[in-house]
Amino acid sequence: METQLPQRPYAEFMEFDVQEMLARSQANFTELNRRRSVRKFSDRPVDRQVIQWCVQSAGTAPSGANRQPWHFVVVQDQNVKQRIQQLAEEEEYAFYHGAAPETWVNAVRPLGTDEHKPFLSAAPYLIVVFAERYQELASNEQQKNYYVSESVGIATGLLIQSLHHAGLATLTHTPSPMKFLNQVLQRPSSERPYLILVTGYPAADATVPELTRKPLAELATFV
Ligand SMILES: Cc1cc2nc3c(=O)[nH]c(=O)nc-3n(C[C@H](O)[C@H](O)[C@H](O)COP(=O)(O)O)c2cc1C
Repeated sequence: METQLPQRPYAEFMEFDVQEMLARSQANFTELNRRRSVRKFSDRPVDRQVIQWCVQSAGTAPSGANRQPWHFVVVQDQNVKQRIQQLAEEEEYAFYHGAAPETWVNAVRPLGTDEHKPFLSAAPYLIVVFAERYQELASNEQQKNYYVSESVGIATGLLIQSLHHAGLATLTHTPSPMKFLNQVLQRPSSERPYLILVTGYPAADATVPELTRKPLAELATFV
């Protein structure tokens, strides 16, 4: 039986007056609304400490039963990035030329994506997010984690926001299938590759597709 944790006052909570709340929430929207996924990266280096702060920020995410079922592999090594590019392109080639449902091919066509992934070796960092399905206990038993996808999704959202806030661009990339990442990055089978966050500066000639976001009236219902 797990014992209950000791409780303490929530001293770090901060309250703002209404005007300040409005200003903060609007400024936050403006900041997030200028985030775009980039598919062409510069090889300009990025200070590793910035990445470390962003990964630590991701680790503040809430998680089912506080299991924190995530692990982030920050890849900076050029050989490892090239290996990931090679394996991802092989998988993607097979996917685009066979396994991909036509509906998927049609859905990504407007974005201009294909099986070529030069950004995987151009960008200074690939942050590979792993979802920990269960924990291996010292007793050799497996302890199941709870709400793994939800928890890792939230942590990844915080990571994307933190990198954006720091002045970096990202691409959420999901080669299909991604199992090869366990082997290349030597992660245990208890962990499932969740996605790759390509991270760096946009290339000088990077462009983004014109797309629209749902307006408030469409994205939310207030009852
Ligand atoms: C779970 C997930 C997987 C994605 N996988 C890919 C991908 O493999 N390749 C790609 O080019 N974009 C990928 N994207 C990026 C989306 O296409 C992009 O977020 C969407 O078009 C909206 O554009 P924005 O990020 O600029 O707002 C992915 C996004 C998410 C959330």
